[in-house]
Amino acid sequence: MSRRHPPAEGLPDYARLDEAGEAAAAARRMEARAAEPASAALFEALVRPLLPGVRRVLEVGCGSGALARRVAAASDAEVLATDKSEGMLAVAAARGGRVAFQRWAAPDEPVPTGEFDLILSSVVVPYLEPSAAEALVVDLAARLRPGGRLVFIEQDLQTDALHFPDPELRTRVFAKDRRPAPRHLALGLRALLRAAGLALDPPCAHLWITHDHGPYLQDLLGAMARDATAAGRITEAERGHWESELAALAARGDFAYSLLYHRVGGVRPAALSTPR
Ligand SMILES: C[S@@+](CC[C@H](N)C(=O)[O-])C[C@H]1O[C@@H](n2cnc3c(N)ncnc32)[C@H](O)[C@@H]1O
Repeated sequence: MSRRHPPAEGLPDYARLDEAGEAAAAARRMEARAAEPASAALFEALVRPLLPGVRRVLEVGCGSGALARRVAAASDAEVLATDKSEGMLAVAAARGGRVAFQRWAAPDEPVPTGEFDLILSSVVVPYLEPSAAEALVVDLAARLRPGGRLVFIEQDLQTDALHFPDPELRTRVFAKDRRPAPRHLALGLRALLRAAGLALDPPCAHLWITHDHGPYLQDLLGAMARDATAAGRITEAERGHWESELAALAARGDFAYSLLYHRVGGVRPAALSTPR
């Protein structure tokens, strides 16, 4: 069950990385993002507080495995990380860490077995059909031990912000209004967790922010400008201006990019009444 929409501009085709031959490039971008201090800060704010007492963790859509490695390093928990893409899992396994990896195209078969104290997923729901997202939440809720927690760490795509001296050009590159907006993205997941019988956690969010025009953002912002050029919204000359202006901002220490992440979670009560 993959997403109906074509991939958003600037992004790999995350719903079908292997078929598109994009797993290796996507893994490089993910590892570059994970290496940013902002990603370590995000982990500290949104994930580490969930780890005390947790014995068994499942991650759904682990990509190159950076979050799973952080969980394993910060806890004694057994960590099982899954992804649909064989190419991603190959990169993740090669990176090591105290993590077991298994292929799982959620929510379809084959499925990881057993019960978990914590189930995590980060930026996978945007690549699922709404019906698959609904089925996934019900499936995952049923894999929790009583008292266990299901948590989604999701980007709020209304908040991606780049400081750029020409806002009109930035608007044409970003083209936010053209993006598909999945119903269950970020805060939209709250209704699904509630319907699956979980007791919702309070709202919690963290701003991922960097002043570093490093490999991750050079790749992302460069790809967005490339795709905006191909779509005819900016000219080649404007693309050149975009690149040189970003480099100049970085040289002056004025580069800034930020994006809000929501933690949407819920706890399984002793008795879960929803059907499996
Ligand atoms: C945007 S990446 C996020 C990876 C990682 N969680 C992170 O935050 O960096 C999306 C990941 O979801 C995986 N994915 C997409 N559809 C999936 C599905 N149905 N089941 C499991 N993984 C899926 C992709 O292969 C990719 O690794």
